Amino acid sequence: MAGNWGVRAGERLIPLLPAGREVLVLAPMQDVTDLAFWRIMARYGGADLYVTEYFRVYAGSVPERHIAESLEQNPTGRPALAQMIGQDIPALCRTAERLQQLPVAGIDLNLGCPAPIVCRKQAGGGLLPYPEKIDTILGALRSCIDCAFTVKTRIGFNDPGEFPRLLEVFARHALDGLTVHGRTVRQMYRQPVHFEPIREAVRALPFPVIANGNILSVAGAEAAQGATGARGFMLGRGAIRNPWLFTQIREWQTTGEVQTRPTLRQLRAYIGELYEGTSPPGLSELKRVGKIKKYLNFVAQSIPGAETFPDAMRRAATERELFAACDAALDRDGYLPELAPGEALVPTGNRDGCYDRDLTGGSF
Ligand SMILES: Cc1cc2nc3c(=O)[nH]c(=O)nc-3n(C[C@H](O)[C@H](O)[C@H](O)COP(=O)(O)O)c2cc1C
Repeated sequence: MAGNWGVRAGERLIPLLPAGREVLVLAPMQDVTDLAFWRIMARYGGADLYVTEYFRVYAGSVPERHIAESLEQNPTGRPALAQMIGQDIPALCRTAERLQQLPVAGIDLNLGCPAPIVCRKQAGGGLLPYPEKIDTILGALRSCIDCAFTVKTRIGFNDPGEFPRLLEVFARHALDGLTVHGRTVRQMYRQPVHFEPIREAVRALPFPVIANGNILSVAGAEAAQGATGARGFMLGRGAIRNPWLFTQIREWQTTGEVQTRPTLRQLRAYIGELYEGTSPPGLSELKRVGKIKKYLNFVAQSIPGAETFPDAMRRAATERELFAACDAALDRDGYLPELAPGEALVPTGNRDGCYDRDLTGGSF
């Protein structure tokens, strides 16, 4: 074990963050934010900081090869955090030590995944009802993580009233950052996002706090900034829907104005890039079409004058049908609309509003 006595909160991450403006982070998203997607995001301007999909950690687990490749081949030119999910302390420490041998800026612990199968195993968001266990895990991990150590959490399991106790636990450890997704586990991805607990975290903690949840536009980032005072924003589905979002927010941060205004035809071209860029070689047409729908779910929802796009896109079984639906919706004059703060993308995961694929492969 490396031993980290004397590590000061925040000191391993702060030097990697842009000075004078909020840091923009691409959220980790299972089966979405892989190496190919990072590459595409970077081409559109990209985030300041990236987080991998989570590595599942349990006795005998080995870091997933395809996620490790995102770190080894990181094409973004920006620092990346490796995210872990699990509750087995020796396995978490063993994995953290292995991940630190890769080009990582830090290790992030997931305390937010709401998938029932994960929570039943007291991993991800399923740890939130057990602050003492979180305390022990954070202590153990801090002592074996030499680089930045960050946590991504929700604001409670059942109720935001649980958050103050969680903040006490986070404050006890020399963390380098905390991302707060302003929903409880029970809320899954439903509205509203609670900004007040994020503001509490900003006030209470001596390290950077990143706000997350439904920040879908420049106006959304501005609202999150005003409501939370957070050191940064983590963007998930909003960045899938609008890959120019990081650039737009950066323009607003540095000049007070947004110059970039993507057209519908540019959005159509982005979908083509996603289709070409994110399918591993050898995938059947049906599977490629299935994979692109994970992204299009978020792109297709908010196009005025194209109300049938989501259904048409979901029904498509071939590449031809899929692109015919995209052309019908997007091959015309017009701009990608800005979503107002409070507007939401409808959850499109399984019936629980969950995005995780079958997680039965490992026992956390
Ligand atoms: C498809 C999908 C997969 C996700 N996978 C992860 C994950 O692996 N790790 C994690 O911490 N959060 C995961 N999340 C949650 C996001 O990181 C983020 O907290 C959430 O989507 C709210 O942010 P947004 O409203 O900007 O999308 C996932 C979300 C989605 C939509």
